[in-house]
Amino acid sequence: MKEKLEDIANAMVTSGQGILAADESTGTIQKRFASINVENTEENRRDYREMLFRSEKAMNDCISGVILFEETLYQKAADGTPLVDVIRAAGAVPGIKVDKGAKPLAGFVGETVTEGLDGLRERLADYYEAGARFAKWRAVINISENAPSVCAIKANAQALARYAALCQEAGIVPIVEPEVQMDGGAVHDIGLCEIATRRALSATFEELNDAGVKLEGMVLKPNMVIAATDCPHQASVEEVAERTVRVLKDVVPTAVPGIAFLSGGQSDEAATAHLSAMNAVGDLPWRLTYSYGRALQAAALSAWKGKAENIAAASRAFTHRAKMNSLATRGGWDSRQEQAA
Ligand code: 13P
Repeated sequence: MKEKLEDIANAMVTSGQGILAADESTGTIQKRFASINVENTEENRRDYREMLFRSEKAMNDCISGVILFEETLYQKAADGTPLVDVIRAAGAVPGIKVDKGAKPLAGFVGETVTEGLDGLRERLADYYEAGARFAKWRAVINISENAPSVCAIKANAQALARYAALCQEAGIVPIVEPEVQMDGGAVHDIGLCEIATRRALSATFEELNDAGVKLEGMVLKPNMVIAATDCPHQASVEEVAERTVRVLKDVVPTAVPGIAFLSGGQSDEAATAHLSAMNAVGDLPWRLTYSYGRALQAAALSAWKGKAENIAAASRAFTHRAKMNSLATRGGWDSRQEQAA
């Protein structure tokens, strides 16, 4: 018998733990590897990700689930153990990125709609067989003078809802990720992000309800409400926390068990500080945790540099970051712990 969607979703947002997003496509991992001068081969991708999944302390204590790219779902560790089994042995749930990427939205310059619905039912059945119990689909919402348009918000929300319904039919928990990107330039301040985030999330929940998606069996993965990286007016940690929680309380039904943020290009420490400040607010109807890619991996990547002799150091860097974020899920992080650890 298949596990209940609610049980999987609850395990993904269990207290003190969060999700490792290690689902970089071959093109995206190329960029990450280029930054440390490592060749983008299948073996290097395997070695790097195996290092993450075999970081026992981080995986056992701080990681509830791992999002994989399709290649990794079927890949074996150097000793022949399927990587999915390495993840399961650490008590984490394997998941899979199923979208086919954000493609230009016809008629709307600079905006995108995420594709990948064709054939998704069949792919989900295969991924379930291979051990995936949750999936991820990322919609990208851009801020500019004319964006986000109503069309971009609606098209992406509808695709997210169709994807989520197909996942639940297959016994797979959907991570629903409408990401308002933090790169709208100098004019993109925290206020614009709040408006766009509120619009994107409202439209998404309307479509999820219309599609009959069971909210108890999903996890939301939103951006935080934050100014663009190159906006001169950066908000304080407290303001980011306050505005993000306000939007979420207004828009996200309490039936959703958990919200796992993306890091979106924030520094490691900023992503941790913001999450901790939100959890310190207390009295929240859902669990607030992390589903970070870059903010969990940046330090590990630069410690690794593609060399076998650096595996232990890379693993320590990943474990440290995972621990800091675990503290943040309880509102218990402060910058002194960065040094103490
Ligand atoms: P970042 O935390 O690097 O934004 O990645 C998370 C993710 O899965 C984006 O889809």
